[in-house]
Amino acid sequence: MIVLAAGQGTRMKSALPKVLHPVAGRPMINHVLAAAEALDPARIVVVAAPGMESVAAAVAPHATAIQEKPLGTAHAVLAARAALKAELAAGADVLVLYGDGPLISPETLGAMLAERRRPGGPAFVWLGVRPPDPTGYGRLVMQDGRLVRIVEEKDASAEERAVALVWGGLVAGAGPALFELAAKIDDNNAKREFYLTSLVGIGNAAGAPSGVVETAFDEVRGVNSRQELAEAEAILQQRLRRRAMAEGATLVAPETVFLSWDTALGRDVTIEPHVVFGPGVTVEDGVEIRAFCHLTGVTIRSGAQVGPFARLRPGSEVGAGAHVGNFVELKATLLGAGAKANHLAYVGDASVGAGANIGAGTITANYDGVMKHRTEIGPNVAIGSNTVLVAPVTVGEGAVVGAGSTITQSVPADAIVATRAPMTVTERSAARYKARLKAIKAEKERK
Ligand code: UD1
Ligand code: MG
Repeated sequence: MIVLAAGQGTRMKSALPKVLHPVAGRPMINHVLAAAEALDPARIVVVAAPGMESVAAAVAPHATAIQEKPLGTAHAVLAARAALKAELAAGADVLVLYGDGPLISPETLGAMLAERRRPGGPAFVWLGVRPPDPTGYGRLVMQDGRLVRIVEEKDASAEERAVALVWGGLVAGAGPALFELAAKIDDNNAKREFYLTSLVGIGNAAGAPSGVVETAFDEVRGVNSRQELAEAEAILQQRLRRRAMAEGATLVAPETVFLSWDTALGRDVTIEPHVVFGPGVTVEDGVEIRAFCHLTGVTIRSGAQVGPFARLRPGSEVGAGAHVGNFVELKATLLGAGAKANHLAYVGDASVGAGANIGAGTITANYDGVMKHRTEIGPNVAIGSNTVLVAPVTVGEGAVVGAGSTITQSVPADAIVATRAPMTVTERSAARYKARLKAIKAEKERK
C-alpha cells in the first residue's frame, strides 16, 4: 500500500506538515495508516517530501520514500517503487491512499481490493464519490458502463464538468501493471503535472481496464485547510460518540462530549455534558463522569465518580469506587479504591491508599523548582483541609493530619499530626476593639 503525503499543505498556513495535524487526538496520517493496517498488507510505504523527518517518525515502523520534487500524483506513486520491489516481484496488488484523508474506512479499502481481485475484474479500481460540489475533482467519464478516462477540472470540457461522479483519490491496482504503465504517464496537461489519473486511458489502450467502486463522500473528504480540519474532526467525533453509545455508555448530550480515537468506555458509564477526553483514557463499567471534566492518559476503575469540573492528567488512575470531586486535579497519581478527593485539591506524583480522604484545599507540593518528588499516602489516611504535603514525604496507614498543616517530614502510621500555630483567645474584647476602630474613623472624617 502507498500513502501519498508529499504535499506541503500550504493552505494550512502551518509549520507542521499537513498530515501531522491531529484529528480526534492523533495525526491524520495515523488514521489513514490504521485503516490500511486493518487489511494486513505485506508492506505500507509513505511518500513524503524532503525534510519531512517528523512525518517519517510518525509513520514508523512503516517505510518512508522520498519524492524529491512535487511533480504530480503519478510521480509520487513512482517514488514508492523501490520500497515495494519484493511485493511487485511477487505480483501483488497495490492500493494508493492519500495521507490527508483521515475518514476512510477499512471496509471501503476491502471493497476496492475485492473488486480488483474478482475473477474477470478490472486491473484498476478507482474510488468514486458524489460530492455536493464536484469542483476541483477529477471527473469519472463513463461510456457504456466502462470508465474511459478521468479528467481533471482544468482540462475538462463544460460537458465533462457536469459529471457528478468524481475520483475520491484512492485506487487499487495490479501492482506490476500499475508501475509499468505509470512510468509512461506524461505531463501534457493544464498543470504540467504527472497525473495518476492518466492511468485510465493508458490502461484501456494497453488491455488493463479500469472499474469504479463508489462510497459516501464523507469517507474521502480531504483536509486542505483549517476549516476542513474542523469538518473532519466533527465527522470523526460523531462516529466515536455513536460507537461509545452502541457499546453501552450513556452520553447525556453527545454533541458536547469530545472523544479521542482510543477512548475506551465500559458499560453503564454515564458521561454528563461538556466532557473532553484526550488520548489514552480507559473508563471501566459503571463510572459516572459529571459535567465539565477534562481527562487525558488516565484509567478510571469501575464504579468511580469523577467531577463535575475535575482535571485528570496523564499517568493517573482512579480506583474502584473512588471519588474525585469539583476543582480537583490529579497528575501521575494513583488514587486507591474507595479513596476520596472531593473538593479543590492538587494531587500530583502521588499514591493515595484505599479508603483515604483528601480534605478540601490539599496540595502536594511536588516541585522544588528543579526536580519533581513523590508523596505517598497510606490506606485510610485522613488529610485535613488546606494541608500542604511537601514532597518527598510519606504519611503512614491510618494517620490523621490536622487541617491547615504543612507536612515536611514523614508521618508514622496511626499518628495524629498538626503543624498549625496554636490558637489564641482573648475574651470580651471584640466589641471594644470595633468601638475603638469606629472612633478612629470618625476622627479622620472630622479633619
Ligand atoms: C487529485 C486527483 C483528482 C481527485 C482528487 C481527490 C490527480 C491528478 N488528481 O487532485 O482526480 O479527484 O485528488 O482528492 O491525481 N501529492 C504528492 N506528490 C505530488 C502531488 C500530490 O504526494 O507531486 C499528494 C498530495 O500530498 C495529496 C495528494 O497527492 O495528498 C493529491 O494531490 P493534489 O495535488 O491535492 O491533487 P488534487 O488536485 O486534489
Ligand atoms: Mg487535493
